[in-house]
Amino acid sequence: MQSLAQFLESDSSSASLQEVLFVTTQTCIEISSALKKGSLAGILGMAGNENVQGEEQKKLDVISNNMLKSALLASPAVRAIASEEEDDIVPATTTGEYLIAFDPLDGSSNIDINSMVGTIFSIYQQVGSQPATEADFLKPGKEQVAAGYVLYGPSTMLVYSTGNGVHMFTLDVEKGEFILTRENVQVETETQEFAINMSNQRFWADAMQHYVNDLVAGKEGSRGKNFNMRWVAAMVGDVHRILCRGGIFIYPWDNKDPNKAGKLRLMYEANPMAMLLEQAGGKAFTHTDRILDIQPEGIHQRVAVVLGAANEVDKCLSY
Ligand code: AHG
Ligand code: MN
Ligand code: MN
Ligand code: MN
Repeated sequence: MQSLAQFLESDSSSASLQEVLFVTTQTCIEISSALKKGSLAGILGMAGNENVQGEEQKKLDVISNNMLKSALLASPAVRAIASEEEDDIVPATTTGEYLIAFDPLDGSSNIDINSMVGTIFSIYQQVGSQPATEADFLKPGKEQVAAGYVLYGPSTMLVYSTGNGVHMFTLDVEKGEFILTRENVQVETETQEFAINMSNQRFWADAMQHYVNDLVAGKEGSRGKNFNMRWVAAMVGDVHRILCRGGIFIYPWDNKDPNKAGKLRLMYEANPMAMLLEQAGGKAFTHTDRILDIQPEGIHQRVAVVLGAANEVDKCLSY
């Protein structure tokens, strides 16, 4: 039984990266406790504000954001944070080494139905000791030094990578610590399970419609095998399923959006998940490019996402 604190020491990370990961994940344990109280703590429902991307914030979007923000900014290892729920980056008063971008609560629409949600984080190292600017955050995902998520499901799980494989931890609620439960997770190259929000089908590019039609056609179609479908409506839940039993997850761009950018955010959704998938032997692309190679243009930039089983991602992109 290895605790996260013990595991981090041997995971070849520097002491200050260990500190950032520890502060982030300890705060997620507090978010997990708050989520467990639900209605009893008066934390469900709308906050009454919009975030910078025009989404209505839930109370828990704001609460979890504030918890992570204050914990991270108090850490001497942190230079600045960026969050889905913050218009701009927030510099720390210290000149720590790390920049952290996060989605404090992924799957907001699941909160009020007591379903799966999570926290996603992405960590970069920043040289020098100057106060951070937004430009410092705009590094391609391949430069992430660590990335991961905490899934608040029936049990609370931490999944992260520092570039040495993907490891899963389960929260021991009594002890208040994460315990290593799976090391070096790998995703099979083939799959018969896909995840996509089919209600947008008529707005997708022709090639995406064609690809998904072929999945749905099953054994009788050109693919010659049946596919099952799942949609958690929280990327953390869908990615976790793929890391556990394989699959492909797609959030394509669609022609409702004139920029053809997709819905998910590059810096705190696509990049961290892409790092995990690649570390687990899978792939993560937009309709055309490897996600981890994209040079970001803004902290809230959106991208199309096709990630999961390597051969299935190739297949999808071949359309
Ligand atoms: P968030 O709650 O952080 O804004 O992210 C929600 C995202 C992602 O988690 C999920 O895959 C997707 O939105 C669900 O979108 P649909 O509403 O189209 O199902
Ligand atoms: Mn949101
Ligand atoms: Mn999200
Ligand atoms: Mn969110």
